[in-house]
Amino acid sequence: MYKSGGISPDDGDHRSKIKNNIPSNVKIIDFRSDTITKPDAEMRRVMAEAEVGDDVFGEDPSVIALQQQTAELLGKEASLFVPTGTMANQIAVMSHCWTRGAEIIVGDKSHIFLYEQGGAATLGGVHTHAVKNLNDGTFSLENLQSAIRSDDIHHPITSLVCIENTHNIMGGKVLPLAWLDELGRITKKLGLPVHLDGARLLNAAVALKVPPARLTRDCASVSLCLSKGLGAPVGSLICGSKDFIQRALRLRKVLGGGMRQSGILAAAGSLALARYQATLSMDNENAKIIAKRVSESASKKVTVDVEGVHSNIVMLNCLTEELGPAALQEKLEQVDLPHDAVSVRSMAINESQVRIVTNNSVDTEAIVLACEKIIKVIT
Ligand SMILES: Cc1ncc(COP(=O)(O)O)c(C=O)c1O
Repeated sequence: MYKSGGISPDDGDHRSKIKNNIPSNVKIIDFRSDTITKPDAEMRRVMAEAEVGDDVFGEDPSVIALQQQTAELLGKEASLFVPTGTMANQIAVMSHCWTRGAEIIVGDKSHIFLYEQGGAATLGGVHTHAVKNLNDGTFSLENLQSAIRSDDIHHPITSLVCIENTHNIMGGKVLPLAWLDELGRITKKLGLPVHLDGARLLNAAVALKVPPARLTRDCASVSLCLSKGLGAPVGSLICGSKDFIQRALRLRKVLGGGMRQSGILAAAGSLALARYQATLSMDNENAKIIAKRVSESASKKVTVDVEGVHSNIVMLNCLTEELGPAALQEKLEQVDLPHDAVSVRSMAINESQVRIVTNNSVDTEAIVLACEKIIKVIT
């Protein structure tokens, strides 16, 4: 039974059911998440050779370089390296909501609302006001404007609007540029800052073929994950104005996120950012290939909205009870040796969908094998 919000797709316990005693001739193709990616040989080399220092003293040259590189890439004044995307979002919320009585407006299917333990409230004393996310990852701008509180002592103070691009739970949707521009126009008029949860922002930039800064232009702050499709082992960045980052630095410390010789991790992040176009365009392309093959199979049990596949996430829609999400996930993973030695790992994420996330552990040859397996199971 999937409770409200479902299981968290990238943070929960998604250990494979057949993980132990897998024969060596079984080919495992892992689409559970892009968080499973591992540093390759080149990345491990730059990590080993990274110059380091005490970053809490502001003395780690590799961290300083990564922060400058990211601020430039996202068109912001400054940036801060933090351990995780969740911490990046929470720090951003608290840095914007510096005074008591604040409220943030978030999408009801956003990571900040569903999967961060209500951290805005527990850590920051900040109230969350959810507006309904639409299928494309946006929300109605009329609803947004209605959600803004009046200047009344009974109300919390609307202090921030949060968006997510690409939108994970909505299937890796890339937010439309026209919507971002309109949101920017409205929030500017209202004097409200926007925080962008850009855990997978670079997938969106690659999909739209625009510089990432085009997507962050009207956002006061941005978080970006290095440890998803980009393939670095650990780390996220928060970007924004110098003042915002100065507050973020204090908040990182109180949350226990002040790391010391973290240049080893930052060096991996710098390389990941330098290679992002090649890595992520491959992931986005592979997702389209899978969606197209599933659609062409004309399965009566499982469908996919090909046009809705914008980045590296494919949602398989289960139409029958017989092959519901849990059964589909299990059947994709099961092997029948010696005839079938391909195990495809995916994730049942709600009552009707299985999520597939392409990532750099799956090459072109494996995509072909995965498509064959998926089609065999669903037809
Ligand atoms: C959209 C989005 N934001 C934030 C996060 C949090 O990242 P982390 O797992 O590094 O805390 C995730 C992770 O899955 C995510 O998908």
